[in-house]
This record gives sequence, structure tokens and C-alpha cells, in this order.
Amino acid sequence: MRAQDLIRTKRDGRELSESEIRAFIAGVTDGSVPDYQASALLMAVFFKGLSEGELSVWADAMTNSGRVLDLARVPGAKIDKHSTGGVGDKVSLCLAPLVAACGVPVPMISGRGLGHTGGTLDKLEAIPGFSTALSVDRFIEVVSEAGLSLIGQTDDLAPADRKLYALRDVTSTVESIPLIASSIMSKKLAEGIDGLVLDVKVGSGAFMKELGRARELARTLLGIGQRAGKRVTAFITDMNQPLGREIGNANETREAIDVLKGEGPDDLVDITLQLGAEMLLLGGVCQEQDEALQRMRAARKDGSGLAALAKCVEMQGGDPAAVHDTSKLPQAKWSRPVLTDRDAVLTSVDTERVGIAAMVLGAGRETVDDVIDHSVGVTMNVRLGDRVKRGDTLATLWYNDEERSQRSEQMLRGALEWSDQEVPPPPLVYEVLR
Ligand code: URA
Repeated sequence: MRAQDLIRTKRDGRELSESEIRAFIAGVTDGSVPDYQASALLMAVFFKGLSEGELSVWADAMTNSGRVLDLARVPGAKIDKHSTGGVGDKVSLCLAPLVAACGVPVPMISGRGLGHTGGTLDKLEAIPGFSTALSVDRFIEVVSEAGLSLIGQTDDLAPADRKLYALRDVTSTVESIPLIASSIMSKKLAEGIDGLVLDVKVGSGAFMKELGRARELARTLLGIGQRAGKRVTAFITDMNQPLGREIGNANETREAIDVLKGEGPDDLVDITLQLGAEMLLLGGVCQEQDEALQRMRAARKDGSGLAALAKCVEMQGGDPAAVHDTSKLPQAKWSRPVLTDRDAVLTSVDTERVGIAAMVLGAGRETVDDVIDHSVGVTMNVRLGDRVKRGDTLATLWYNDEERSQRSEQMLRGALEWSDQEVPPPPLVYEVLR
């Protein structure tokens, strides 16, 4: 393979052959394709795209660029969930234990937050002692015994993605649907799962701001998974405002635990039940959606979801007492209400800015090397369509640094738009693709 020939083929809008794609991904992984040629091909893909056939081979080559886990030791169909990310999205923390309690094992390899979006690993690490860096053997043991395990990416899983992602980041080729989809799916397929529920977020706090683009991403992800022989469903869900009320690591962990205790805000509960019911259907423990929803509700009511999380926390070195008593999670030194200065209806939320307001407090990272403060965050009291009166509390800031809290408040206020007119709240789920 001569990389310049592949670059020319794609530059001219022609198809790459299976052997060319496999040779390219292998060359990226072992370093024999230099960064400048890999970057040029990425740019050609950015402009010319990949056909379905090319994409399946590309994703498969990335999946097999490293280790693919063998979860045969764990009985039953293993089903994971992946969200494309947003603000206040703590669904994994309550969903995985409920699904595990209903008898479907959930092996979940997650990421960290960057910029306005949070990451599941950071939220879990708010639990004192919790380790997200387990060996693969230990990961499989925890999935077998607790029914779920949540860990971080290991070096030997889809290493081609790490190299390609780093190049995309510095060559402005991140925003390409085939490159995003193959990146996401290669990591998920390397987990050795049987099925996957995708939560593709759309709106002001999401990667995809428009429904058309979100639908294209969802279809592309679904296609890769299904052609790889997996059971996959994609939900397209709303990110035009934060999910739930809490933003920030300990705050979000607490809210997810509330859901497992039968409490929690309606939108978070609803999305958790819907995604979880789909996982039970894909896992084959239920045949009908109503039955699956009933099972999920029961696991919330009888405490079996909470028990599954406590078991997983204990097996991953964390303090299970913090699951039962969330006052043991880190708490910020100070809190302050943010009051409204008008009588009005909330008509629009720049959710990305709300996420940045939490990042400014220290809840998120501006760059990958930033250290986060698990205790700080924002509690939102208003949702789209709510009418407020002057002096109402629209949010509470939880903080450890006065200057940061001032900047965060400015940012938060600037993210909200008001009007005298009533507006209908957006739907929670736009579409479900199977
Ligand atoms: N998340 C990923 O894992 N990869 C992308 O390319 C974009 C988002």
C-alpha cells in the first residue's frame, strides 16, 4: 500500500478497497503511516465521505486494531449504552444498575468530560475510593458478580482510534459523521458486547445541534453496529436544556442515586426507563416494551438497582456507604442562589454555556490536563416553558472559589432567554431508530 495512492483515490471521490483500508488502519496503529499522510486521508474522508461498505471495513479495522474483549464467561447477552454527550447527562449511573438488576449484564467502558460536557468516569470518581482503572480480568469479574462494571478506556482497546482522534483534533476533521461514527463504534464493539442502545443527543448542549445531522449520525452508528452483527437501537433525545436538575460530578451522582431510590426529576427518570427497557428487549429478558418498562420500574421500587450499584462500587474499591447516604459525597464549601430579575417565561437555554458555567466553577476541564473539583456544580430550578416571578431562584451555585462563582453566574445568566409568551417544552425523545 502506498498511502499517497489511497489519498488520491479518496480525494477524487472514488472508493477504497477493503485491503487498502485495512492496510491504512494497520499502518496508523503501528506508526508506519506518517501523521502527514494519515491527516491528508482524514481530510479527504472529511470532504468525500465513506460508502456503507467502506465504513463497515474502516470501523471493523479500527475495532480490531487492538484487543477485542471476550465476555463469554459472563452468561447472557451483554448490552451497553452510549450517549453522544451533553450537560447533566448522568443516565449511565442509574441506568446500568437498573438494567443489571433486571438480569442483563452491562459492561460499560466510558470516557471523561471535556469542555462543556461531563464524563461518566468523573462522576463516578466523586464516590470516595472508586477506581475506574481496572484490569480487563477484574472488569469481567465485576460484570459477572455485580451485573455491571464501569471503567475507563484501556490502552489496548481500539488504539487506532486514539491515534486518529488526536490527528482529527489538530486538523479540524473531528466533525465528520463517518469519522465520528467509526470512532464511537470501534470502542464499543471492542467491548465484546452483543447489543447497544445509542442515545444521540440533539440541541444546544449537544455535539449535533440540528435534528437532521443527529439523524444522520444515528443512522450511521446503527448501520455500523448492525452490519457487525449486533443488536442496536438508536434514540435521538433532547439536549436543548440540561438533563435533570444537577450539573457537576458529585451533584449528578447524587441525582442518579436519587433515581435508584425512587426519586429524581421526571425527565431523567423517563429517559432512564425508556433506554433501559430497550436494553432489556435487546438482551432478550423481555419481549414487550410494556413488560420491560414494568421490570425497570420494579427494580427502582424494590431497591435492587440501588443494591447493584452498591455492589459495583464496593468491587471497584469505592465506599458503598456513599451510595446509601449521599451526604458522604464531596460537598462544596459554599452555595448561593441565582435569582431572577423579571417576571417571564424561559424560552431558550444555551445549554453549552450552562455546561461552561459549571466548568468555570471547576466541575469540568478546559483542557485534558485540568484537574476537576468533584464537589462543585449548578442546580437548575427552571426548565423550558416555566414561568418565573421576579426574585425566584433560577439556579443554585455550589462553589469553593468566590471569583469563579461570579464568572459562572454571569455565564449562566447569559445562557438563558426570556419572553412574555408561553412556549411548549421540547419533547424528550424525538425518534427511535431500529
Ligand atoms: N466521541 C468519540 O468517541 N469520537 C468522536 O469522534 C467524537 C465523539
